[in-house]
Amino acid sequence: MGGMLRLAVLGHPIAHSLSPAMHAWALSALGLRGTYEALDTPPEALPERLQEVRRGYRGVNLTVPLKERALPLLDWVSPEARAIGAVNTVLSAEGHLLGFNTDAPGFLMALEAGGFPLRGPALVLGAGGAGRAVAYALKGAGLRVWVWNRTPERAQALAEEMGLEAVPLEAARAAYLLVNATSVGLGDPGATPLPPELFPDEGVAVDLVYRPLWTRFLKEAKARGLGVQTGLPMLAWQGALAFRIWTGLLPDPVGMERVALGALG
Ligand code: ATR
Repeated sequence: MGGMLRLAVLGHPIAHSLSPAMHAWALSALGLRGTYEALDTPPEALPERLQEVRRGYRGVNLTVPLKERALPLLDWVSPEARAIGAVNTVLSAEGHLLGFNTDAPGFLMALEAGGFPLRGPALVLGAGGAGRAVAYALKGAGLRVWVWNRTPERAQALAEEMGLEAVPLEAARAAYLLVNATSVGLGDPGATPLPPELFPDEGVAVDLVYRPLWTRFLKEAKARGLGVQTGLPMLAWQGALAFRIWTGLLPDPVGMERVALGALG
């Protein structure tokens, strides 16, 4: 039946999410009739909101602070999302809610599409939700993965859980791939998680932060001759892969990235 495809992103706050713009473009580019709303959902409202999703939506994205909280509220969670401990995509099918994580494959696809080699050692800065998804993806791709976190106990716990190595920040000198998965730099062009003298002589730096788009971390990496990738390609790829879970169709991630860039202002 040619019904409307109802989609949304849930988060709190949600007003500045780039997902509505990206997915509206995807719907239109693929000739699908549908809507993608931004539904402000504080954590305490999540159970009720998921009931609405169960009844009236094809699927939703989840963002801060809901990715971890959703797991016990879903009917099924993919092994990957369970291992990461975070769901960013929910498919609502026949009254069932199925949880997925497209951040992890989205990260790898963005790197690959950027033309960067999938080469280690990889140092993941940050052992929070974003760091867990990236570490899981890189480990699954067969790389040697190091993890650093401001609170070392958290890095240690993640390392033991996923078979990684918790390292001091100085390990960056010997890494090839550096990923900023902390929130350092978010909304602050002067902040960086890594002193610039710790960059390796060759390699690639990826920042998951995209506000500002060019963080101090990326600027300093570039100045030292490293390959660099902003947070937008991963944002676009996780969105495109989520869209495919809902519809079976993969929108062009390059188009989604372009729209996200435009919406970033
Ligand atoms: P996300 O889902 O974005 O990963 P999160 O789970 O709250 O969010 O994780 C935030 C990450 O940023 C953590 O790794 C946090 O370090 P702590 O575990 O020590 O809190 C990191 N972070 C936040 N502010 C930081 C700062 N000023 N310096 C270094 N790391 C910071």
